Amino acid sequence: MGRHASALDRETALGRVIAVTNDKGGVGKTSIVANLGGQLAAANYRVLLVDLNRQANLADDLGIRESPVDDQGDGLISAIVLDGKHQLPVASGVRPNLDVVCGGTRLEALTPLMVSKTMGAGVGSNEPSPFLALADVLVPVAQHYDVVLIDCPPENFILTDLALAAARWVIMPTKTDLGGLVGMRLVAERFAKAKEINPLLGLLGAVLFGTGTKSTAIHTEARDSITKAFGGNSPLFTTMVRHAERTAQDARRLGKLAHELEVEAMSQPAWWELLRRGARAKAGVSMTAASVASDYRELAFEVLTVLRSMEESAAEPAGTQRRNAS
Ligand SMILES: Nc1ncnc2c1ncn2[C@@H]1O[C@H](COP(=O)(O)OP(=O)(O)OP(=O)(O)O)[C@@H](O)[C@H]1O
Ligand SMILES: [Mg+2]
Repeated sequence: MGRHASALDRETALGRVIAVTNDKGGVGKTSIVANLGGQLAAANYRVLLVDLNRQANLADDLGIRESPVDDQGDGLISAIVLDGKHQLPVASGVRPNLDVVCGGTRLEALTPLMVSKTMGAGVGSNEPSPFLALADVLVPVAQHYDVVLIDCPPENFILTDLALAAARWVIMPTKTDLGGLVGMRLVAERFAKAKEINPLLGLLGAVLFGTGTKSTAIHTEARDSITKAFGGNSPLFTTMVRHAERTAQDARRLGKLAHELEVEAMSQPAWWELLRRGARAKAGVSMTAASVASDYRELAFEVLTVLRSMEESAAEPAGTQRRNAS
Protein backbone atom coordinates (compact mmCIF):
# COMPACT_ATOMS: atom_id res chain seq x y z
CA MET A 1 0.00 0.00 0.00
CA GLY A 2 1.16 3.55 -0.74
CA ARG A 3 1.93 5.98 2.05
CA HIS A 4 -1.36 7.86 1.57
CA ALA A 5 -4.69 6.50 0.46
CA SER A 6 -6.17 8.32 -2.53
CA ALA A 7 -9.20 10.56 -2.04
CA LEU A 8 -11.26 7.99 -3.96
CA ASP A 9 -10.07 5.13 -1.69
CA ARG A 10 -11.01 7.20 1.33
CA GLU A 11 -14.42 8.05 -0.08
CA THR A 12 -15.17 4.39 -0.85
CA ALA A 13 -13.72 2.69 2.23
CA LEU A 14 -14.66 5.28 4.85
CA GLY A 15 -18.25 5.95 3.76
CA ARG A 16 -19.68 4.33 6.89
CA VAL A 17 -17.19 5.74 9.41
CA ILE A 18 -18.99 7.70 12.13
CA ALA A 19 -17.14 9.87 14.67
CA VAL A 20 -18.98 10.14 17.98
CA THR A 21 -17.74 13.40 19.39
CA ASN A 22 -18.32 16.29 21.76
CA ASP A 23 -15.53 18.37 23.28
CA LYS A 24 -17.28 18.20 26.65
CA GLY A 25 -16.45 15.22 28.88
CA GLY A 26 -19.04 12.84 30.27
CA VAL A 27 -21.80 13.42 27.71
CA GLY A 28 -22.18 9.77 26.66
CA LYS A 29 -19.73 9.36 23.77
CA THR A 30 -18.32 6.05 24.99
CA SER A 31 -21.65 4.64 26.20
CA ILE A 32 -23.21 5.40 22.82
CA VAL A 33 -20.31 3.93 20.83
CA ALA A 34 -20.42 0.72 22.91
CA ASN A 35 -24.19 0.28 22.94
CA LEU A 36 -24.97 1.50 19.42
CA GLY A 37 -22.16 -0.75 18.18
CA GLY A 38 -23.52 -3.63 20.27
CA GLN A 39 -27.04 -3.17 18.92
CA LEU A 40 -25.87 -3.03 15.30
CA ALA A 41 -23.65 -6.10 15.78
CA ALA A 42 -26.57 -7.99 17.36
CA ALA A 43 -28.60 -7.09 14.27
CA ASN A 44 -25.95 -8.78 12.11
CA TYR A 45 -24.09 -5.70 10.87
CA ARG A 46 -20.31 -6.05 10.87
CA VAL A 47 -19.12 -3.39 13.30
CA LEU A 48 -15.71 -1.94 14.18
CA LEU A 49 -15.26 0.34 17.20
CA VAL A 50 -12.17 2.58 17.35
CA ASP A 51 -11.18 4.00 20.74
CA LEU A 52 -9.16 7.25 20.67
CA ASN A 53 -9.19 7.71 24.46
CA ARG A 54 -6.23 7.23 26.77
CA GLN A 55 -8.57 6.29 29.64
CA ALA A 56 -10.18 3.61 27.43
CA ASN A 57 -13.61 3.41 29.08
CA LEU A 58 -14.78 1.59 25.98
CA ALA A 59 -12.72 -1.40 27.17
CA ASP A 60 -14.61 -1.21 30.50
CA ASP A 61 -18.01 -1.06 28.83
CA LEU A 62 -17.14 -4.08 26.69
CA GLY A 63 -15.45 -5.95 29.56
CA ILE A 64 -12.11 -6.31 27.78
CA ARG A 65 -9.83 -4.12 29.95
CA GLU A 66 -6.56 -5.96 30.63
CA SER A 67 -7.78 -8.95 28.64
CA PRO A 68 -5.38 -10.50 26.10
CA VAL A 69 -6.91 -8.38 23.29
CA ASP A 70 -6.40 -5.09 25.17
CA ASP A 71 -3.22 -3.58 23.67
CA GLN A 72 -3.76 -0.16 25.32
CA GLY A 73 -3.64 1.61 21.96
CA ASP A 74 -0.29 0.14 20.94
CA GLY A 75 -1.51 -1.15 17.56
CA LEU A 76 -3.16 2.13 16.63
CA ILE A 77 -0.18 4.29 17.52
CA SER A 78 2.24 1.92 15.75
CA ALA A 79 0.15 1.94 12.56
CA ILE A 80 0.08 5.75 12.56
CA VAL A 81 3.82 6.06 13.31
CA LEU A 82 4.54 3.66 10.44
CA ASP A 83 2.33 5.74 8.10
CA GLY A 84 0.05 2.81 7.34
CA LYS A 85 2.89 0.47 6.27
CA HIS A 86 1.59 -2.00 8.89
CA GLN A 87 -2.04 -3.07 8.84
CA LEU A 88 -3.96 -1.70 11.82
CA PRO A 89 -4.38 -4.61 14.29
CA VAL A 90 -7.95 -5.28 15.34
CA ALA A 91 -9.24 -7.17 18.39
CA SER A 92 -11.71 -9.44 16.64
CA GLY A 93 -14.72 -11.24 18.04
CA VAL A 94 -15.16 -9.03 21.11
CA ARG A 95 -18.83 -9.85 20.51
CA PRO A 96 -20.25 -11.70 17.48
CA ASN A 97 -19.82 -9.24 14.53
CA LEU A 98 -18.07 -6.70 16.78
CA ASP A 99 -14.34 -5.91 16.56
CA VAL A 100 -12.38 -3.21 18.37
CA VAL A 101 -9.28 -1.08 17.86
CA CYS A 102 -8.34 -0.52 21.50
CA GLY A 103 -7.40 2.78 23.10
CA GLY A 104 -5.38 3.23 26.28
CA THR A 105 -2.31 4.81 27.78
CA ARG A 106 -0.15 4.18 24.69
CA LEU A 107 -2.24 6.85 22.96
CA GLU A 108 -0.56 9.52 25.12
CA ALA A 109 2.10 9.65 22.42
CA LEU A 110 -0.45 10.47 19.70
CA THR A 111 -0.94 14.17 20.46
CA PRO A 112 2.81 15.05 20.44
CA LEU A 113 3.25 12.88 17.35
CA MET A 114 0.54 14.83 15.52
CA VAL A 115 2.03 18.15 16.69
CA SER A 116 5.40 17.19 15.19
CA LYS A 117 3.77 15.92 11.96
CA THR A 118 1.86 19.20 11.66
CA MET A 119 4.98 21.29 12.26
CA GLY A 120 6.90 19.18 9.73
CA ALA A 121 4.26 19.71 7.02
CA GLY A 122 5.32 22.54 4.69
CA VAL A 123 2.98 25.54 4.58
CA GLY A 124 1.05 25.51 1.31
CA SER A 125 2.71 22.21 0.25
CA ASN A 126 0.78 19.77 -1.92
CA GLU A 127 1.31 16.96 0.62
CA PRO A 128 -1.93 15.56 2.07
CA SER A 129 -2.81 16.92 5.51
CA PRO A 130 -1.11 15.12 8.44
CA PHE A 131 -4.61 14.86 9.93
CA LEU A 132 -5.40 12.19 7.33
CA ALA A 133 -3.14 9.80 9.29
CA LEU A 134 -6.05 7.93 10.92
CA ALA A 135 -8.01 7.88 7.65
CA ASP A 136 -4.99 6.31 5.91
CA VAL A 137 -4.67 3.47 8.43
CA LEU A 138 -8.42 2.86 8.46
CA VAL A 139 -8.86 2.58 4.67
CA PRO A 140 -7.66 -1.05 4.31
CA VAL A 141 -9.57 -2.14 7.44
CA ALA A 142 -12.86 -0.20 7.28
CA GLN A 143 -13.94 -1.79 4.01
CA HIS A 144 -14.53 -5.07 5.88
CA TYR A 145 -17.23 -3.48 8.07
CA ASP A 146 -20.75 -2.15 7.57
CA VAL A 147 -20.28 0.51 10.24
CA VAL A 148 -17.20 1.94 12.00
CA LEU A 149 -17.75 4.06 15.13
CA ILE A 150 -14.93 6.23 16.50
CA ASP A 151 -15.07 7.05 20.23
CA CYS A 152 -13.48 10.54 20.42
CA PRO A 153 -11.80 11.93 23.54
CA PRO A 154 -12.98 15.09 25.30
CA GLU A 155 -11.00 18.34 25.19
CA ASN A 156 -8.50 17.22 22.59
CA PHE A 157 -8.72 19.17 19.35
CA ILE A 158 -5.88 17.26 17.73
CA LEU A 159 -7.37 13.80 18.18
CA THR A 160 -10.84 15.11 17.35
CA ASP A 161 -9.45 16.57 14.09
CA LEU A 162 -7.86 13.17 13.31
CA ALA A 163 -11.24 11.48 13.78
CA LEU A 164 -13.14 14.12 11.78
CA ALA A 165 -10.69 13.76 8.89
CA ALA A 166 -11.34 9.98 8.83
CA ALA A 167 -15.11 10.06 9.28
CA ARG A 168 -17.91 10.47 6.76
CA TRP A 169 -20.43 11.26 9.49
CA VAL A 170 -20.65 12.74 12.96
CA ILE A 171 -22.93 11.79 15.84
CA MET A 172 -22.82 14.29 18.66
CA PRO A 173 -24.11 13.24 22.08
CA THR A 174 -24.92 16.07 24.44
CA LYS A 175 -26.41 16.63 27.84
CA THR A 176 -28.97 19.37 28.16
CA ASP A 177 -26.91 21.41 30.65
CA LEU A 178 -25.00 24.53 29.62
CA GLY A 179 -21.63 22.72 29.64
CA GLY A 180 -22.85 20.10 27.16
CA LEU A 181 -24.27 22.74 24.87
CA VAL A 182 -21.07 24.84 24.98
CA GLY A 183 -19.07 21.72 24.10
CA MET A 184 -21.42 21.25 21.18
CA ARG A 185 -20.66 24.75 19.86
CA LEU A 186 -16.97 23.83 19.91
CA VAL A 187 -17.78 20.67 17.90
CA ALA A 188 -19.63 22.85 15.37
CA GLU A 189 -16.44 24.94 14.96
CA ARG A 190 -14.20 21.86 14.58
CA PHE A 191 -16.75 20.36 12.19
CA ALA A 192 -16.58 23.45 9.93
CA LYS A 193 -12.76 23.38 10.05
CA ALA A 194 -12.58 19.63 9.35
CA LYS A 195 -14.59 20.09 6.16
CA GLU A 196 -11.58 21.93 4.67
CA ILE A 197 -9.67 18.60 4.77
CA ASN A 198 -12.67 16.30 4.48
CA PRO A 199 -15.38 18.06 2.43
CA LEU A 200 -17.71 15.03 2.53
CA LEU A 201 -18.07 15.16 6.34
CA GLY A 202 -21.74 15.37 7.33
CA LEU A 203 -23.63 15.69 10.61
CA LEU A 204 -25.81 12.62 11.09
CA GLY A 205 -27.40 13.97 14.25
CA ALA A 206 -27.17 14.95 17.90
CA VAL A 207 -28.38 12.69 20.72
CA LEU A 208 -29.63 13.89 24.10
CA PHE A 209 -27.94 11.71 26.70
CA GLY A 210 -28.74 10.97 30.33
CA THR A 211 -31.88 13.06 30.26
CA GLY A 212 -35.30 12.78 31.91
CA THR A 213 -37.70 11.37 29.32
CA LYS A 214 -40.46 13.80 30.38
CA SER A 215 -38.41 17.03 30.40
CA THR A 216 -39.93 18.29 27.16
CA ALA A 217 -39.31 22.03 27.75
CA ILE A 218 -35.62 21.29 28.36
CA HIS A 219 -35.48 19.15 25.22
CA THR A 220 -36.98 21.99 23.15
CA GLU A 221 -34.35 24.40 24.52
CA ALA A 222 -31.60 21.92 23.64
CA ARG A 223 -33.02 21.54 20.13
CA ASP A 224 -32.91 25.34 19.67
CA SER A 225 -29.29 25.52 20.84
CA ILE A 226 -28.29 22.72 18.46
CA THR A 227 -30.00 24.45 15.55
CA LYS A 228 -28.22 27.71 16.45
CA ALA A 229 -24.81 25.99 16.63
CA PHE A 230 -25.12 24.07 13.34
CA GLY A 231 -27.57 26.24 11.40
CA GLY A 232 -30.47 24.97 9.32
CA ASN A 233 -32.84 22.28 10.52
CA SER A 234 -32.16 20.81 13.93
CA PRO A 235 -30.33 17.52 13.44
CA LEU A 236 -31.48 16.20 16.82
CA PHE A 237 -32.41 12.51 16.83
CA THR A 238 -35.88 11.84 18.23
CA THR A 239 -34.46 9.03 20.36
CA MET A 240 -32.86 10.00 23.67
CA VAL A 241 -30.84 7.94 26.11
CA ARG A 242 -32.62 8.21 29.44
CA HIS A 243 -30.89 8.96 32.74
CA ALA A 244 -30.21 5.63 34.48
CA GLU A 245 -27.30 5.87 36.88
CA ARG A 246 -27.60 2.42 38.39
CA THR A 247 -27.66 0.70 34.98
CA ALA A 248 -24.67 2.82 33.92
CA GLN A 249 -22.76 1.67 36.98
CA ASP A 250 -23.73 -1.97 36.42
CA ALA A 251 -22.59 -1.68 32.80
CA ARG A 252 -19.12 -0.36 33.53
CA ARG A 253 -18.63 -2.56 36.60
CA LEU A 254 -19.63 -5.77 34.82
CA GLY A 255 -18.38 -4.93 31.30
CA LYS A 256 -21.81 -5.57 29.82
CA LEU A 257 -23.89 -3.63 27.33
CA ALA A 258 -27.42 -2.50 28.23
CA HIS A 259 -29.08 -5.28 26.21
CA GLU A 260 -26.84 -7.87 27.88
CA LEU A 261 -27.77 -6.48 31.32
CA GLU A 262 -31.42 -6.65 30.25
CA VAL A 263 -31.07 -10.42 29.73
CA GLU A 264 -29.23 -10.77 33.03
CA ALA A 265 -31.86 -8.73 34.89
CA MET A 266 -34.63 -10.96 33.55
CA SER A 267 -32.90 -14.18 34.55
CA GLN A 268 -31.73 -13.15 38.02
CA PRO A 269 -33.56 -14.37 41.15
CA ALA A 270 -36.21 -12.06 42.61
CA TRP A 271 -34.92 -9.44 45.07
CA TRP A 272 -36.47 -11.23 48.06
CA GLU A 273 -34.69 -14.44 47.14
CA LEU A 274 -31.39 -12.55 46.92
CA LEU A 275 -32.14 -11.01 50.30
CA ARG A 276 -32.86 -14.41 51.86
CA ARG A 277 -29.61 -15.73 50.43
CA GLY A 278 -27.82 -13.02 52.38
CA ALA A 279 -27.08 -10.57 49.54
CA ARG A 280 -27.22 -6.82 50.21
CA ALA A 281 -30.62 -5.37 49.30
CA LYS A 282 -29.18 -3.53 46.29
CA ALA A 283 -27.33 -6.52 44.83
CA GLY A 284 -28.22 -7.79 41.37
CA VAL A 285 -28.69 -5.91 38.13
CA SER A 286 -31.12 -2.99 37.86
CA MET A 287 -34.32 -3.74 35.96
CA THR A 288 -33.97 -0.29 34.32
CA ALA A 289 -31.47 -1.97 31.98
CA ALA A 290 -34.43 -3.05 29.81
CA SER A 291 -35.54 0.58 29.29
CA VAL A 292 -31.99 1.74 28.53
CA ALA A 293 -31.51 -1.18 26.11
CA SER A 294 -34.74 -0.16 24.40
CA ASP A 295 -33.41 3.43 24.02
CA TYR A 296 -30.29 2.09 22.32
CA ARG A 297 -32.36 -0.22 20.09
CA GLU A 298 -34.43 2.76 18.95
CA LEU A 299 -31.31 4.83 18.48
CA ALA A 300 -29.77 2.12 16.27
CA PHE A 301 -32.95 2.02 14.19
CA GLU A 302 -33.03 5.82 13.84
CA VAL A 303 -29.31 6.11 13.05
CA LEU A 304 -29.62 3.51 10.26
CA THR A 305 -32.76 5.18 8.89
CA VAL A 306 -31.16 8.66 8.82
CA LEU A 307 -27.92 7.21 7.42
CA ARG A 308 -29.74 5.48 4.61
CA SER A 309 -31.75 8.57 3.70
CA MET A 310 -28.65 10.81 3.78
CA GLU A 311 -26.74 8.32 1.64
CA GLU A 312 -29.58 8.24 -0.85
CA SER A 313 -29.75 12.01 -1.14
CA ALA A 314 -25.92 12.25 -1.38
CA ALA A 315 -26.03 9.72 -4.24
CA GLU A 316 -28.57 11.72 -6.24
CA PRO A 317 -27.08 13.75 -9.07
CA ALA A 318 -26.70 17.45 -8.14
CA GLY A 319 -29.38 18.56 -10.64
CA THR A 320 -31.93 16.09 -9.21
CA GLN A 321 -31.23 17.33 -5.68
CA ARG A 322 -31.94 20.89 -6.74
CA ARG A 323 -35.15 19.82 -8.49
CA ASN A 324 -36.32 17.88 -5.41
CA ALA A 325 -35.50 20.79 -3.14
CA SER A 326 -37.48 23.28 -5.22
N1 LIG B 1 -28.06 6.32 30.75
C1 LIG B 1 -27.21 6.88 31.61
N2 LIG B 1 -27.66 7.68 32.61
C2 LIG B 1 -26.81 8.26 33.49
N3 LIG B 1 -25.47 8.10 33.45
C3 LIG B 1 -24.96 7.32 32.48
C4 LIG B 1 -25.80 6.66 31.52
N4 LIG B 1 -25.02 5.93 30.70
C5 LIG B 1 -23.76 6.12 31.11
N5 LIG B 1 -23.71 6.95 32.18
C6 LIG B 1 -22.54 7.40 32.93
O1 LIG B 1 -22.24 8.71 32.52
C7 LIG B 1 -20.83 8.93 32.57
C8 LIG B 1 -20.36 9.50 31.23
O2 LIG B 1 -20.63 8.54 30.22
P1 LIG B 1 -19.54 8.26 29.08
O3 LIG B 1 -18.27 7.75 29.67
O4 LIG B 1 -20.22 7.43 28.08
O5 LIG B 1 -19.32 9.74 28.52
P2 LIG B 1 -18.11 10.28 27.61
O6 LIG B 1 -18.63 11.44 26.87
O7 LIG B 1 -17.52 9.18 26.83
O8 LIG B 1 -17.07 10.73 28.73
P3 LIG B 1 -15.53 11.19 28.44
O9 LIG B 1 -15.63 12.52 27.78
O10 LIG B 1 -14.95 11.26 29.84
O11 LIG B 1 -14.90 10.17 27.58
C9 LIG B 1 -20.19 7.60 32.92
O12 LIG B 1 -19.91 7.60 34.30
C10 LIG B 1 -21.28 6.59 32.62
O13 LIG B 1 -21.21 5.44 33.45
MG1 LIG C 1 -15.51 8.49 26.73
